[in-house]
Amino acid sequence: MMELKNSRIDKKELRGDALEVLAENLEFCGNPGLSLAFRRAASVLKSLPDAPRRLEETQHLPCLGEHSRAIIEEISEYGSCSRVEEILNDERYRTMKLFSSVFGVGPKTAENWFCRGLRTFEQVLNDPSIRLNRMQTAGFLFYEDISKPVSRTEAIALKIIVEEAVTSVIPSASVSITGGFRRGKEFGHDVDFIIKTPEAGQEDSILPAVIERFKRQSILLYSDLQESTFDLRQLPTHRFEAMDHFSKCFLIVKLKGEQETGRDWRAVRVDLVAPPLERYAYALLGWTGSMLFERDLRRFARLERGKLLDHHALYDKATNTFLSANTEEDIFTHLGLEYIEPWQRNA
Ligand code: UTP
Ligand code: MN
Repeated sequence: MMELKNSRIDKKELRGDALEVLAENLEFCGNPGLSLAFRRAASVLKSLPDAPRRLEETQHLPCLGEHSRAIIEEISEYGSCSRVEEILNDERYRTMKLFSSVFGVGPKTAENWFCRGLRTFEQVLNDPSIRLNRMQTAGFLFYEDISKPVSRTEAIALKIIVEEAVTSVIPSASVSITGGFRRGKEFGHDVDFIIKTPEAGQEDSILPAVIERFKRQSILLYSDLQESTFDLRQLPTHRFEAMDHFSKCFLIVKLKGEQETGRDWRAVRVDLVAPPLERYAYALLGWTGSMLFERDLRRFARLERGKLLDHHALYDKATNTFLSANTEEDIFTHLGLEYIEPWQRNA
Protein backbone atom coordinates (compact mmCIF):
# COMPACT_ATOMS: atom_id res chain seq x y z
CA MET A 1 0.00 0.00 0.00
CA MET A 2 1.44 3.35 -0.91
CA GLU A 3 2.21 6.20 1.41
CA LEU A 4 -0.07 9.19 1.19
CA LYS A 5 1.51 11.98 -0.77
CA ASN A 6 0.84 14.57 1.83
CA SER A 7 2.01 17.51 -0.22
CA ARG A 8 -0.66 16.89 -2.82
CA ILE A 9 -3.54 16.13 -0.55
CA ASP A 10 -6.01 18.45 0.94
CA LYS A 11 -5.71 17.03 4.42
CA LYS A 12 -9.30 17.94 5.19
CA GLU A 13 -10.50 15.37 2.68
CA LEU A 14 -8.79 12.62 4.59
CA ARG A 15 -10.32 13.94 7.77
CA GLY A 16 -13.73 13.07 6.42
CA ASP A 17 -14.72 16.11 4.39
CA ALA A 18 -14.90 14.09 1.17
CA LEU A 19 -17.16 11.55 2.85
CA GLU A 20 -19.33 14.35 4.14
CA VAL A 21 -19.87 15.61 0.61
CA LEU A 22 -21.06 12.14 -0.36
CA ALA A 23 -23.34 12.00 2.68
CA GLU A 24 -24.80 15.39 1.93
CA ASN A 25 -25.41 14.49 -1.70
CA LEU A 26 -27.21 11.29 -0.69
CA GLU A 27 -29.37 13.31 1.66
CA PHE A 28 -30.27 15.66 -1.17
CA CYS A 29 -31.10 12.61 -3.29
CA GLY A 30 -33.44 11.23 -0.65
CA ASN A 31 -31.25 8.39 0.61
CA PRO A 32 -30.92 9.05 4.35
CA GLY A 33 -29.85 5.48 5.15
CA LEU A 34 -26.74 5.44 3.02
CA SER A 35 -26.10 9.07 3.90
CA LEU A 36 -25.92 8.10 7.57
CA ALA A 37 -23.32 5.43 6.79
CA PHE A 38 -21.04 8.04 5.21
CA ARG A 39 -21.66 10.51 8.03
CA ARG A 40 -20.60 7.86 10.53
CA ALA A 41 -17.44 7.12 8.57
CA ALA A 42 -16.67 10.84 8.28
CA SER A 43 -17.17 11.34 11.98
CA VAL A 44 -14.84 8.43 12.83
CA LEU A 45 -12.12 9.99 10.65
CA LYS A 46 -12.67 13.37 12.27
CA SER A 47 -12.30 11.89 15.73
CA LEU A 48 -8.76 10.70 14.95
CA PRO A 49 -5.97 12.85 16.35
CA ASP A 50 -4.35 12.86 12.89
CA ALA A 51 -5.53 12.20 9.37
CA PRO A 52 -4.67 8.63 8.34
CA ARG A 53 -1.41 8.44 6.42
CA ARG A 54 -1.83 4.98 5.01
CA LEU A 55 -4.91 3.02 4.12
CA GLU A 56 -3.92 0.24 6.53
CA GLU A 57 -4.37 2.69 9.36
CA THR A 58 -8.06 2.74 8.56
CA GLN A 59 -8.42 -1.05 8.57
CA HIS A 60 -9.43 -1.41 12.18
CA LEU A 61 -11.57 1.67 12.44
CA PRO A 62 -15.27 1.13 13.04
CA CYS A 63 -17.95 2.29 10.59
CA LEU A 64 -15.58 2.51 7.63
CA GLY A 65 -17.18 0.38 4.96
CA GLU A 66 -15.67 -0.73 1.68
CA HIS A 67 -17.14 2.30 -0.03
CA SER A 68 -15.56 4.79 2.34
CA ARG A 69 -12.20 3.04 2.28
CA ALA A 70 -12.17 3.00 -1.51
CA ILE A 71 -12.61 6.76 -1.48
CA ILE A 72 -9.86 7.27 1.08
CA GLU A 73 -7.62 5.08 -1.05
CA GLU A 74 -8.36 7.10 -4.16
CA ILE A 75 -7.61 10.35 -2.38
CA SER A 76 -4.43 8.95 -0.93
CA GLU A 77 -3.22 7.84 -4.36
CA TYR A 78 -4.38 10.64 -6.60
CA GLY A 79 -4.92 13.49 -4.21
CA SER A 80 -8.61 13.67 -5.05
CA CYS A 81 -11.61 11.47 -5.69
CA SER A 82 -13.40 11.64 -9.01
CA ARG A 83 -16.86 10.94 -7.55
CA VAL A 84 -16.45 13.70 -4.98
CA GLU A 85 -15.17 16.14 -7.62
CA GLU A 86 -18.14 15.23 -9.79
CA ILE A 87 -20.58 15.98 -6.97
CA LEU A 88 -18.86 19.25 -6.07
CA ASN A 89 -19.30 20.37 -9.68
CA ASP A 90 -22.85 19.11 -9.99
CA GLU A 91 -25.36 21.89 -10.49
CA ARG A 92 -28.07 20.17 -8.51
CA TYR A 93 -25.80 19.52 -5.54
CA ARG A 94 -24.43 23.07 -5.57
CA THR A 95 -27.88 24.61 -5.78
CA MET A 96 -29.37 22.34 -3.11
CA LYS A 97 -26.45 23.16 -0.83
CA LEU A 98 -26.86 26.87 -1.41
CA PHE A 99 -30.63 26.89 -0.84
CA SER A 100 -30.60 24.61 2.18
CA SER A 101 -27.99 26.83 3.82
CA VAL A 102 -30.82 29.29 4.46
CA PHE A 103 -32.45 29.06 7.90
CA GLY A 104 -35.92 27.60 7.33
CA VAL A 105 -35.16 25.98 3.99
CA GLY A 106 -35.07 22.18 4.13
CA PRO A 107 -34.21 19.71 1.38
CA LYS A 108 -37.83 19.62 0.13
CA THR A 109 -38.06 23.36 -0.44
CA ALA A 110 -34.54 23.48 -1.87
CA GLU A 111 -35.46 20.76 -4.35
CA ASN A 112 -38.70 22.49 -5.24
CA TRP A 113 -36.85 25.71 -6.04
CA PHE A 114 -34.20 23.83 -8.00
CA CYS A 115 -36.84 22.03 -10.08
CA ARG A 116 -38.43 25.37 -10.94
CA GLY A 117 -35.15 26.30 -12.52
CA LEU A 118 -34.04 28.66 -9.78
CA ARG A 119 -30.30 28.76 -9.10
CA THR A 120 -29.54 31.88 -7.08
CA PHE A 121 -30.95 33.71 -4.05
CA GLU A 122 -31.71 36.64 -6.31
CA GLN A 123 -33.88 34.47 -8.54
CA VAL A 124 -35.72 33.06 -5.53
CA LEU A 125 -36.32 36.47 -4.01
CA ASN A 126 -37.53 37.92 -7.31
CA ASP A 127 -39.86 35.03 -8.18
CA PRO A 128 -43.41 36.32 -7.65
CA SER A 129 -44.82 32.80 -7.27
CA ILE A 130 -42.67 32.08 -4.22
CA ARG A 131 -44.03 33.02 -0.83
CA LEU A 132 -41.42 32.73 1.87
CA ASN A 133 -42.62 31.81 5.33
CA ARG A 134 -41.60 33.83 8.40
CA MET A 135 -38.62 31.61 9.15
CA GLN A 136 -37.27 31.77 5.60
CA THR A 137 -37.78 35.53 5.48
CA ALA A 138 -35.63 35.86 8.60
CA GLY A 139 -33.19 33.35 7.09
CA PHE A 140 -32.61 35.56 4.05
CA LEU A 141 -32.69 38.80 6.02
CA PHE A 142 -29.91 37.71 8.40
CA TYR A 143 -28.23 35.25 6.04
CA GLU A 144 -24.75 36.70 6.22
CA ASP A 145 -24.63 36.92 9.99
CA ILE A 146 -26.14 33.56 10.81
CA SER A 147 -24.03 31.65 8.31
CA LYS A 148 -20.93 32.99 10.07
CA PRO A 149 -19.75 30.59 12.82
CA VAL A 150 -20.44 31.64 16.39
CA SER A 151 -17.34 31.67 18.59
CA ARG A 152 -17.10 30.37 22.13
CA THR A 153 -16.55 33.94 23.34
CA GLU A 154 -19.81 34.97 21.69
CA ALA A 155 -21.55 31.94 23.18
CA ILE A 156 -20.42 32.95 26.66
CA ALA A 157 -21.59 36.53 26.11
CA LEU A 158 -24.99 35.15 25.10
CA LYS A 159 -25.11 32.93 28.14
CA ILE A 160 -24.91 35.99 30.37
CA ILE A 161 -27.79 37.62 28.46
CA VAL A 162 -29.95 34.49 28.66
CA GLU A 163 -29.10 33.96 32.32
CA GLU A 164 -30.00 37.53 33.17
CA ALA A 165 -33.36 37.17 31.44
CA VAL A 166 -34.15 33.79 32.99
CA THR A 167 -33.23 34.71 36.57
CA SER A 168 -35.05 38.02 36.37
CA VAL A 169 -38.22 35.94 35.98
CA ILE A 170 -37.33 32.94 38.17
CA PRO A 171 -34.37 33.77 40.45
CA SER A 172 -33.70 30.14 41.37
CA ALA A 173 -33.65 28.91 37.74
CA SER A 174 -30.35 28.15 36.02
CA VAL A 175 -29.00 28.14 32.48
CA SER A 176 -26.41 25.81 30.91
CA ILE A 177 -24.83 25.72 27.49
CA THR A 178 -25.51 22.47 25.61
CA GLY A 179 -24.94 21.41 21.99
CA GLY A 180 -21.54 21.56 20.39
CA PHE A 181 -20.12 24.11 22.82
CA ARG A 182 -20.74 21.77 25.75
CA ARG A 183 -18.80 19.14 23.81
CA GLY A 184 -15.87 21.54 23.74
CA LYS A 185 -16.25 22.85 20.19
CA GLU A 186 -14.79 26.33 19.65
CA PHE A 187 -17.37 27.29 17.01
CA GLY A 188 -20.99 26.48 16.34
CA HIS A 189 -23.77 27.29 13.90
CA ASP A 190 -25.94 28.37 16.83
CA VAL A 191 -25.84 28.42 20.64
CA ASP A 192 -27.99 25.93 22.53
CA PHE A 193 -29.12 26.53 26.11
CA ILE A 194 -31.06 24.37 28.51
CA ILE A 195 -33.01 25.95 31.35
CA LYS A 196 -33.51 24.27 34.69
CA THR A 197 -36.58 25.43 36.60
CA PRO A 198 -37.17 24.25 40.16
CA GLU A 199 -40.97 24.03 40.21
CA ALA A 200 -43.42 22.09 38.09
CA GLY A 201 -45.11 24.27 35.48
CA GLN A 202 -42.37 26.90 35.36
CA GLU A 203 -40.92 25.21 32.29
CA ASP A 204 -43.96 26.36 30.35
CA SER A 205 -43.94 29.99 31.44
CA ILE A 206 -40.23 30.75 31.35
CA LEU A 207 -39.70 30.87 27.59
CA PRO A 208 -42.53 33.31 26.74
CA ALA A 209 -41.20 35.53 29.55
CA VAL A 210 -37.65 35.44 28.18
CA ILE A 211 -38.93 36.24 24.69
CA GLU A 212 -40.92 39.19 26.06
CA ARG A 213 -37.84 40.49 27.83
CA PHE A 214 -35.66 40.23 24.71
CA LYS A 215 -38.35 42.10 22.80
CA ARG A 216 -38.34 44.93 25.34
CA GLN A 217 -34.55 45.04 25.15
CA SER A 218 -34.88 45.31 21.33
CA ILE A 219 -32.55 42.36 20.80
CA LEU A 220 -35.12 39.93 19.42
CA LEU A 221 -34.91 39.56 15.63
CA TYR A 222 -36.92 36.35 15.24
CA SER A 223 -38.66 33.89 17.52
CA ASP A 224 -40.50 30.64 17.11
CA LEU A 225 -41.92 29.37 20.38
CA GLN A 226 -42.88 25.70 20.48
CA GLU A 227 -45.07 24.83 23.38
CA SER A 228 -44.58 21.56 25.18
CA THR A 229 -46.31 18.50 23.75
CA PHE A 230 -44.66 16.26 26.30
CA ASP A 231 -46.81 13.42 27.57
CA LEU A 232 -45.19 10.52 29.39
CA ARG A 233 -48.15 8.30 28.57
CA GLN A 234 -47.25 8.46 24.90
CA LEU A 235 -43.78 7.11 25.53
CA PRO A 236 -41.81 5.06 24.75
CA THR A 237 -41.24 5.44 21.06
CA HIS A 238 -39.21 3.10 18.94
CA ARG A 239 -38.75 5.59 16.19
CA PHE A 240 -35.96 8.08 16.47
CA GLU A 241 -37.45 11.54 16.48
CA ALA A 242 -35.24 14.47 15.66
CA MET A 243 -37.61 16.74 17.53
CA ASP A 244 -38.39 16.42 21.18
CA HIS A 245 -41.60 17.39 22.95
CA PHE A 246 -40.30 19.91 25.49
CA SER A 247 -41.14 23.58 25.39
CA LYS A 248 -38.45 25.27 23.39
CA CYS A 249 -37.81 28.24 21.17
CA PHE A 250 -35.70 28.95 18.13
CA LEU A 251 -34.49 32.54 18.14
CA ILE A 252 -32.36 34.99 16.27
CA VAL A 253 -30.99 37.62 18.63
CA LYS A 254 -28.83 40.69 18.37
CA LEU A 255 -25.46 40.30 20.02
CA LYS A 256 -23.79 43.64 20.65
CA GLY A 257 -20.14 44.08 19.80
CA GLU A 258 -18.00 45.70 17.11
CA GLN A 259 -18.25 43.80 13.81
CA GLU A 260 -16.12 43.68 10.66
CA THR A 261 -19.18 44.98 8.86
CA GLY A 262 -18.90 48.22 10.81
CA ARG A 263 -22.15 47.53 12.65
CA ASP A 264 -22.10 47.30 16.42
CA TRP A 265 -24.06 44.04 16.53
CA ARG A 266 -24.47 40.72 14.77
CA ALA A 267 -27.39 38.31 14.49
CA VAL A 268 -26.98 34.91 16.18
CA ARG A 269 -29.15 31.81 16.20
CA VAL A 270 -30.05 30.74 19.72
CA ASP A 271 -32.05 27.69 20.82
CA LEU A 272 -33.59 27.44 24.28
CA VAL A 273 -35.17 24.33 25.79
CA ALA A 274 -37.00 24.13 29.11
CA PRO A 275 -37.81 20.57 30.19
CA PRO A 276 -39.73 19.64 33.34
CA LEU A 277 -37.27 19.12 36.23
CA GLU A 278 -37.69 15.33 36.38
CA ARG A 279 -36.84 15.13 32.65
CA TYR A 280 -33.83 17.46 32.88
CA ALA A 281 -31.08 14.82 32.74
CA TYR A 282 -32.58 13.19 29.64
CA ALA A 283 -33.07 16.52 27.93
CA LEU A 284 -29.49 17.57 28.73
CA LEU A 285 -28.13 14.32 27.31
CA GLY A 286 -30.28 14.71 24.19
CA TRP A 287 -29.40 18.34 23.56
CA THR A 288 -25.69 17.85 24.14
CA GLY A 289 -25.43 15.60 21.08
CA SER A 290 -23.73 14.95 18.86
CA MET A 291 -26.58 13.70 16.77
CA LEU A 292 -24.56 10.63 15.76
CA PHE A 293 -23.59 9.94 19.37
CA GLU A 294 -27.26 10.09 20.39
CA ARG A 295 -28.16 7.66 17.66
CA ASP A 296 -25.45 5.22 18.65
CA LEU A 297 -26.36 5.45 22.32
CA ARG A 298 -30.01 4.76 21.53
CA ARG A 299 -29.06 1.80 19.42
CA PHE A 300 -26.78 0.46 22.12
CA ALA A 301 -29.53 0.82 24.73
CA ARG A 302 -32.03 -1.02 22.54
CA LEU A 303 -29.86 -3.83 21.20
CA GLU A 304 -27.48 -4.44 24.09
CA ARG A 305 -29.63 -3.54 27.06
CA GLY A 306 -33.24 -4.00 25.95
CA LYS A 307 -33.99 -0.41 26.91
CA LEU A 308 -35.55 2.38 24.92
CA LEU A 309 -33.80 5.72 25.19
CA ASP A 310 -34.95 9.02 23.79
CA HIS A 311 -34.77 12.73 24.60
CA HIS A 312 -37.33 12.27 27.37
CA ALA A 313 -36.87 8.98 29.14
CA LEU A 314 -35.31 5.55 29.42
CA TYR A 315 -37.72 2.64 29.35
CA ASP A 316 -36.80 -0.83 30.54
CA LYS A 317 -38.59 -3.41 28.42
CA ALA A 318 -37.82 -6.23 30.86
CA THR A 319 -39.63 -4.59 33.76
CA ASN A 320 -41.94 -2.30 31.76
CA THR A 321 -40.85 0.70 33.77
CA PHE A 322 -39.38 4.12 33.16
CA LEU A 323 -36.02 4.63 34.85
CA SER A 324 -35.66 7.90 36.66
CA ALA A 325 -32.48 9.96 36.49
CA ASN A 326 -31.39 13.14 38.24
CA THR A 327 -28.12 13.44 36.35
CA GLU A 328 -26.53 12.23 33.13
CA GLU A 329 -24.39 9.95 35.28
CA ASP A 330 -27.57 8.16 36.40
CA ILE A 331 -28.50 7.49 32.78
CA PHE A 332 -25.11 6.01 31.94
CA THR A 333 -25.33 3.89 35.09
CA HIS A 334 -28.76 2.59 34.02
CA LEU A 335 -27.15 1.62 30.72
CA GLY A 336 -24.25 -0.13 32.44
CA LEU A 337 -21.77 2.30 30.94
CA GLU A 338 -19.04 4.42 32.47
CA TYR A 339 -19.77 8.11 32.29
CA ILE A 340 -18.92 9.53 28.87
CA GLU A 341 -17.72 13.12 29.12
CA PRO A 342 -19.37 15.63 26.75
CA TRP A 343 -16.10 16.19 24.86
CA GLN A 344 -16.00 12.43 24.17
CA ARG A 345 -19.39 12.58 22.47
CA ASN A 346 -18.22 14.16 19.25
CA ALA A 347 -18.11 10.87 17.35
P1 UTP B 1 -27.40 21.38 16.97
O1 UTP B 1 -28.11 21.19 15.67
O2 UTP B 1 -27.32 22.76 17.49
O3 UTP B 1 -25.98 20.73 16.81
O4 UTP B 1 -28.13 20.44 18.01
P2 UTP B 1 -24.60 21.03 17.52
O5 UTP B 1 -24.05 19.70 17.86
O6 UTP B 1 -24.75 22.02 18.62
O7 UTP B 1 -23.73 21.61 16.36
P3 UTP B 1 -23.56 23.14 15.87
O8 UTP B 1 -22.21 23.53 16.36
O9 UTP B 1 -24.65 23.97 16.47
O10 UTP B 1 -23.65 23.07 14.39
C1 UTP B 1 -27.61 20.14 19.27
C2 UTP B 1 -28.34 18.98 19.84
O11 UTP B 1 -29.66 19.36 20.16
C3 UTP B 1 -30.57 18.41 19.74
C4 UTP B 1 -29.92 17.63 18.62
O12 UTP B 1 -30.33 16.30 18.64
C5 UTP B 1 -28.44 17.79 18.91
O13 UTP B 1 -27.96 16.63 19.55
N1 UTP B 1 -31.82 19.05 19.32
C6 UTP B 1 -31.81 20.11 18.49
C7 UTP B 1 -33.00 18.57 19.79
O14 UTP B 1 -33.02 17.63 20.56
N2 UTP B 1 -34.17 19.16 19.40
C8 UTP B 1 -34.19 20.22 18.57
O15 UTP B 1 -35.29 20.71 18.26
C9 UTP B 1 -32.97 20.72 18.09
MN1 MN C 1 -25.78 23.91 18.33
